[in-house]
Amino acid sequence: MANRKSKEIESTAMQHLLGIKDLDVSSIHTIFSTADQFKGVINSPTRKTPALRDVTIANVFFENSTRTRISFELAEKRLGADVVNFSSSSSSLSKGETLIDTINNILSMKVDMVVLRHPSPGACKFLARHVNSKIINAGDGTHEHPTQALLDAYSIREKFGDVEGKKIAIVGDILHSRVALSNIHCLQKLGAEVTLCGPKSLIPYQIEDLGVQVNYNLQETLEWCDVANMLRIQHERQDVKYFPSLREYASLYGLTMDKLNALSKEITIMHPGPINRGVEVTSEVADSNQSIILQQVENGVAIRMAVLFLLAQSKLNKIIH
Ligand code: NCD
Repeated sequence: MANRKSKEIESTAMQHLLGIKDLDVSSIHTIFSTADQFKGVINSPTRKTPALRDVTIANVFFENSTRTRISFELAEKRLGADVVNFSSSSSSLSKGETLIDTINNILSMKVDMVVLRHPSPGACKFLARHVNSKIINAGDGTHEHPTQALLDAYSIREKFGDVEGKKIAIVGDILHSRVALSNIHCLQKLGAEVTLCGPKSLIPYQIEDLGVQVNYNLQETLEWCDVANMLRIQHERQDVKYFPSLREYASLYGLTMDKLNALSKEITIMHPGPINRGVEVTSEVADSNQSIILQQVENGVAIRMAVLFLLAQSKLNKIIH
């Protein structure tokens, strides 16, 4: 009987982190409380724990990345894991190999987990179905970027004590942003209210169906929110022109100290990076006391340590839809 029970628990344990959509609230809270512990580790003199000493992780990045790749690699090293890195420039995909073959070759070298960034939405889910490894999505095209959303929500929790009931504005290129979609899922699961703001051409049609509000007026949105998460224009994903010029975008949707000072209250500013200073936020805003942009980066390592640790232990629950 005891045996059967433990098998049931094992079979519902989560193997992958593919997106926030399939993550239940209790798993998000488990990730946060585990990240609290790891934040303590990062800030201790040794900065390390041997928790994943027996685990080997491959970071496989088919899209450019600086902060997410470094953040994952540091998280893995702080947990004592063995780490290997593959990037698109050094990959054999350009020589005609399939994604499944590339990953299976890596796995046959006794790798336990794969952190994958890929330009195609759904690449991580596809891989999870076809290879025998735990997969962590580090951004799949315009689809999801779950660890970014977790670190964003964790940073809001750290600043305000709780995410529930907070009013969060997500401003900018919602149409091409995986950060926006993962944030919407994560913030809503945690009981926050979400308003999207940006030019009409960059807000997906019928996005309100996800339970978010849309406001095309930046000043009204800022007056409403507790936190404004300012997203970058994803030029690399834009096939046509979505607005007349960057100058016009910045004047309508860029955040300046004048716009912040015109509000009746002080709001918190976030940005997933990389920042285009002078476009979505001015330098004064990015470097102001209201900005928690560098705290987000710091928290990213603790959140990724928590995700890797919990997945290695299979301690996250899977929602069965
Ligand atoms: C984001 C991404 O890659 O989606 N950045 C990141 O992960 N730090 C956002 C962006 O590129 O604008």
